[in-house]
Amino acid sequence: MLRNKLGLKDPEKLEEAEFSITATEISALDEDPVPGNFDLEHLQAIHKRLFDQLYDWAGELRTVDLVKDGTQFAHVAHLSRAATDVFAQLRQDKWLKNLDEGAFLDGFTHYYSEVNILHPFREGNGRVQRAFFTLLAKYSGYHVAWDRMNQEDNIQASIAAYRGNEEPLAEILCPLLEWIDKDYFYFKRVDSHRFTTDRTMHNWPK
Ligand SMILES: Nc1ncnc2c1ncn2[C@@H]1O[C@H](COP(=O)(O)OP(=O)(O)OP(=O)(O)O)[C@@H](O)[C@H]1O
Ligand SMILES: [Mg+2]
Repeated sequence: MLRNKLGLKDPEKLEEAEFSITATEISALDEDPVPGNFDLEHLQAIHKRLFDQLYDWAGELRTVDLVKDGTQFAHVAHLSRAATDVFAQLRQDKWLKNLDEGAFLDGFTHYYSEVNILHPFREGNGRVQRAFFTLLAKYSGYHVAWDRMNQEDNIQASIAAYRGNEEPLAEILCPLLEWIDKDYFYFKRVDSHRFTTDRTMHNWPK
């Protein structure tokens, strides 16, 4: 179990405290987003915001290797370099600005997977990447309805992406993206090249 600023020694208590503190911080992000340039420092600043009350190392890159269910996340020795490369590429891709829906989805999926494969932090990578990609999506006029994402599906699709097939992840992320610039409609993929818009999402539970 992780040493924490609250002095909690019971893993269940820590998990509860972590959940409630980060949930509060995450819901405050809408009104008060973490400023940044969609780079590694930005991701670290988001981690710091979410986890500062809990861990001394909030916002710092991990110093141990991490493996989950066969996924070997970036080796510590290469982590900072690999992260710099991912964010340099994202910058070159103009942070996915001004793309059509299909290209946006592909890019969004790709970088979501790349950042996940980095797994820069000892704990909290999922929450931090969702917060980061919420902002990145907003920059292009999309809202991401993460509450509709099934975690088990996300993990399976993240494993497939790690193994080189990003398609299942795109399938999962696509219905979470809602276009907010115009009339707040939901866009839905017919196949990998065609999209329809669907206003029925207005009737979806909020
Ligand atoms: N086997 C795996 N292969 C690839 N990615 C995985 C795997 N298992 C989990 N993930 C990804 O890692 C994230 C969880 O990472 P971590 O536990 O550091 O973050 P968290 O914020 O504590 O978790 P959560 O996303 O459940 O809130 C998941 O959201 C998923 O995106
Ligand atoms: Mg976790």
